[in-house]
Amino acid sequence: MAELYKCESCRRIVKVISEGKGELLCCGQPMKPLAAFGSVEEILDFAIEKEEEAYRFYTEWAKKLDKSWIRKHFEEFAKEELRHKDKLLLVKQGKILKPSPQRVTDLKITDYLVEATPAPDMSYQQALIVAMQREKASFSLYNDLATTTDDEDFRSTFLALAQEEARHKLALETIYDEEILTED
Ligand SMILES: [Fe+2]
Ligand SMILES: [Fe+2]
Repeated sequence: MAELYKCESCRRIVKVISEGKGELLCCGQPMKPLAAFGSVEEILDFAIEKEEEAYRFYTEWAKKLDKSWIRKHFEEFAKEELRHKDKLLLVKQGKILKPSPQRVTDLKITDYLVEATPAPDMSYQQALIVAMQREKASFSLYNDLATTTDDEDFRSTFLALAQEEARHKLALETIYDEEILTED
Protein backbone atom coordinates (compact mmCIF):
# COMPACT_ATOMS: atom_id res chain seq x y z
CA MET A 1 0.00 0.00 0.00
CA ALA A 2 1.33 3.40 -0.99
CA GLU A 3 2.13 5.64 1.93
CA LEU A 4 0.40 8.99 1.70
CA TYR A 5 0.97 12.02 3.87
CA LYS A 6 -1.17 15.10 4.14
CA CYS A 7 -0.29 18.63 5.20
CA GLU A 8 -2.92 19.90 7.63
CA SER A 9 -2.17 23.46 6.60
CA CYS A 10 -2.04 23.58 2.78
CA ARG A 11 -3.73 20.16 2.36
CA ARG A 12 -1.06 18.95 -0.02
CA ILE A 13 -0.84 15.17 -0.34
CA VAL A 14 2.53 13.54 -0.77
CA LYS A 15 3.17 9.95 -1.82
CA VAL A 16 6.23 8.08 -0.51
CA ILE A 17 7.73 6.00 -3.28
CA SER A 18 10.83 4.94 -1.41
CA GLU A 19 11.10 4.63 2.36
CA GLY A 20 13.71 6.75 4.12
CA LYS A 21 14.55 8.11 7.53
CA GLY A 22 13.44 11.42 8.92
CA GLU A 23 10.25 13.34 9.14
CA LEU A 24 8.23 14.81 6.28
CA LEU A 25 7.65 18.51 6.73
CA CYS A 26 5.31 20.88 4.92
CA CYS A 27 4.35 24.46 5.81
CA GLY A 28 6.80 24.18 8.68
CA GLN A 29 5.04 21.28 10.39
CA PRO A 30 5.17 17.49 10.26
CA MET A 31 2.86 15.92 7.69
CA LYS A 32 0.25 13.44 8.91
CA PRO A 33 -0.10 9.98 7.42
CA LEU A 34 -3.27 9.89 5.35
CA ALA A 35 -4.43 6.93 7.43
CA ALA A 36 -4.63 9.52 10.21
CA PHE A 37 -7.72 10.74 8.40
CA GLY A 38 -9.23 8.12 10.71
CA SER A 39 -12.23 7.23 8.65
CA VAL A 40 -13.36 6.96 5.06
CA GLU A 41 -15.82 9.69 6.02
CA GLU A 42 -12.93 12.10 6.49
CA ILE A 43 -11.37 11.07 3.19
CA LEU A 44 -14.71 11.74 1.50
CA ASP A 45 -14.94 15.16 3.13
CA PHE A 46 -11.46 15.93 1.88
CA ALA A 47 -12.43 14.87 -1.66
CA ILE A 48 -15.60 16.98 -1.45
CA GLU A 49 -13.48 19.99 -0.57
CA LYS A 50 -11.26 19.32 -3.60
CA GLU A 51 -14.32 19.15 -5.85
CA GLU A 52 -15.58 22.46 -4.49
CA GLU A 53 -12.17 23.93 -5.20
CA ALA A 54 -12.28 22.62 -8.77
CA TYR A 55 -15.79 24.04 -9.19
CA ARG A 56 -14.60 27.46 -8.02
CA PHE A 57 -11.61 27.33 -10.37
CA TYR A 58 -13.73 26.70 -13.46
CA THR A 59 -16.44 29.18 -12.45
CA GLU A 60 -13.98 31.96 -11.75
CA TRP A 61 -12.06 31.38 -14.95
CA ALA A 62 -15.24 31.08 -16.98
CA LYS A 63 -16.04 34.64 -15.94
CA LYS A 64 -12.64 35.88 -17.04
CA LEU A 65 -12.62 34.25 -20.46
CA ASP A 66 -13.95 36.54 -23.15
CA LYS A 67 -14.61 34.01 -25.91
CA SER A 68 -18.06 32.60 -25.28
CA TRP A 69 -17.41 29.15 -26.74
CA ILE A 70 -14.42 28.67 -24.43
CA ARG A 71 -16.44 29.98 -21.52
CA LYS A 72 -19.06 27.31 -22.23
CA HIS A 73 -16.45 24.58 -21.88
CA PHE A 74 -15.34 25.92 -18.53
CA GLU A 75 -18.93 26.29 -17.31
CA GLU A 76 -19.58 22.69 -18.28
CA PHE A 77 -16.50 21.52 -16.38
CA ALA A 78 -17.64 23.51 -13.35
CA LYS A 79 -20.98 21.70 -13.44
CA GLU A 80 -19.23 18.36 -13.69
CA GLU A 81 -17.17 19.06 -10.58
CA LEU A 82 -20.37 19.95 -8.73
CA ARG A 83 -21.80 16.64 -9.88
CA HIS A 84 -18.72 14.92 -8.43
CA LYS A 85 -19.38 16.64 -5.14
CA ASP A 86 -23.00 15.41 -5.20
CA LYS A 87 -21.82 11.91 -6.00
CA LEU A 88 -19.45 12.01 -3.04
CA LEU A 89 -22.28 13.17 -0.79
CA LEU A 90 -24.29 10.15 -1.96
CA VAL A 91 -21.30 7.90 -1.30
CA LYS A 92 -21.36 9.19 2.27
CA GLN A 93 -24.91 7.87 2.46
CA GLY A 94 -23.84 4.44 1.27
CA LYS A 95 -23.91 4.70 -2.51
CA ILE A 96 -21.22 2.72 -4.32
CA LEU A 97 -19.79 3.85 -7.66
CA LYS A 98 -18.33 1.43 -10.16
CA PRO A 99 -15.68 2.29 -12.73
CA SER A 100 -16.60 1.45 -16.30
CA PRO A 101 -14.61 -1.43 -17.82
CA GLN A 102 -13.63 0.85 -20.69
CA ARG A 103 -10.26 2.49 -20.29
CA VAL A 104 -10.03 6.25 -20.78
CA THR A 105 -7.50 7.18 -23.45
CA ASP A 106 -4.54 9.15 -22.13
CA LEU A 107 -3.32 11.56 -24.80
CA LYS A 108 -0.40 12.40 -22.44
CA ILE A 109 -0.29 15.97 -23.80
CA THR A 110 -0.21 17.35 -20.24
CA ASP A 111 2.90 15.29 -19.46
CA TYR A 112 4.93 17.11 -22.09
CA LEU A 113 3.95 20.65 -21.22
CA VAL A 114 5.83 23.07 -19.06
CA GLU A 115 3.95 23.63 -15.82
CA ALA A 116 1.72 26.72 -15.88
CA THR A 117 0.85 28.78 -12.84
CA PRO A 118 -2.60 30.34 -12.76
CA ALA A 119 -2.48 34.10 -13.33
CA PRO A 120 -5.31 36.59 -13.80
CA ASP A 121 -4.02 37.66 -17.20
CA MET A 122 -3.20 34.21 -18.49
CA SER A 123 -4.02 33.34 -22.05
CA TYR A 124 -6.59 30.76 -23.08
CA GLN A 125 -3.73 28.39 -23.81
CA GLN A 126 -2.32 28.82 -20.30
CA ALA A 127 -5.76 28.43 -18.75
CA LEU A 128 -6.17 25.18 -20.64
CA ILE A 129 -2.80 23.94 -19.40
CA VAL A 130 -3.66 24.85 -15.80
CA ALA A 131 -6.99 23.03 -16.17
CA MET A 132 -5.33 19.95 -17.64
CA GLN A 133 -2.81 19.91 -14.80
CA ARG A 134 -5.64 20.16 -12.28
CA GLU A 135 -7.47 17.26 -13.87
CA LYS A 136 -4.32 15.18 -13.90
CA ALA A 137 -3.82 15.94 -10.19
CA SER A 138 -7.45 15.00 -9.41
CA PHE A 139 -7.02 11.76 -11.33
CA SER A 140 -3.90 10.89 -9.30
CA LEU A 141 -5.56 11.89 -6.04
CA TYR A 142 -8.46 9.49 -6.55
CA ASN A 143 -6.11 6.74 -7.65
CA ASP A 144 -4.05 7.32 -4.51
CA LEU A 145 -7.13 7.41 -2.30
CA ALA A 146 -8.12 4.04 -3.77
CA THR A 147 -4.90 2.59 -2.39
CA THR A 148 -5.62 3.83 1.13
CA THR A 149 -8.53 1.47 1.72
CA ASP A 150 -8.99 -2.30 1.62
CA ASP A 151 -12.74 -1.87 1.37
CA GLU A 152 -13.66 -3.03 -2.16
CA ASP A 153 -16.68 -0.70 -2.41
CA PHE A 154 -14.70 2.41 -1.54
CA ARG A 155 -11.88 1.31 -3.78
CA SER A 156 -14.22 0.98 -6.74
CA THR A 157 -15.86 4.32 -5.90
CA PHE A 158 -12.52 6.15 -5.89
CA LEU A 159 -11.46 4.41 -9.10
CA ALA A 160 -14.74 5.43 -10.74
CA LEU A 161 -14.08 9.06 -9.80
CA ALA A 162 -10.47 8.78 -11.02
CA GLN A 163 -11.90 7.66 -14.34
CA GLU A 164 -14.18 10.69 -14.54
CA GLU A 165 -11.24 13.02 -13.93
CA ALA A 166 -9.32 11.14 -16.62
CA ARG A 167 -12.25 11.88 -18.94
CA HIS A 168 -12.05 15.57 -18.06
CA LYS A 169 -8.35 15.51 -18.86
CA LEU A 170 -9.03 13.76 -22.16
CA ALA A 171 -11.68 16.34 -23.08
CA LEU A 172 -9.28 19.20 -22.30
CA GLU A 173 -6.37 17.53 -24.10
CA THR A 174 -8.57 17.03 -27.14
CA ILE A 175 -9.50 20.73 -27.13
CA TYR A 176 -5.84 21.63 -26.69
CA ASP A 177 -4.87 19.34 -29.54
CA GLU A 178 -7.51 20.76 -31.86
CA GLU A 179 -7.32 24.42 -30.90
CA ILE A 180 -3.69 24.98 -30.03
CA LEU A 181 -1.50 22.27 -31.52
CA THR A 182 -3.13 22.34 -34.95
CA GLU A 183 -2.99 26.12 -35.21
CA ASP A 184 -0.94 27.50 -38.09
FE1 LIG B 1 -13.92 16.23 -9.92
FE1 LIG C 1 -12.45 17.17 -13.01
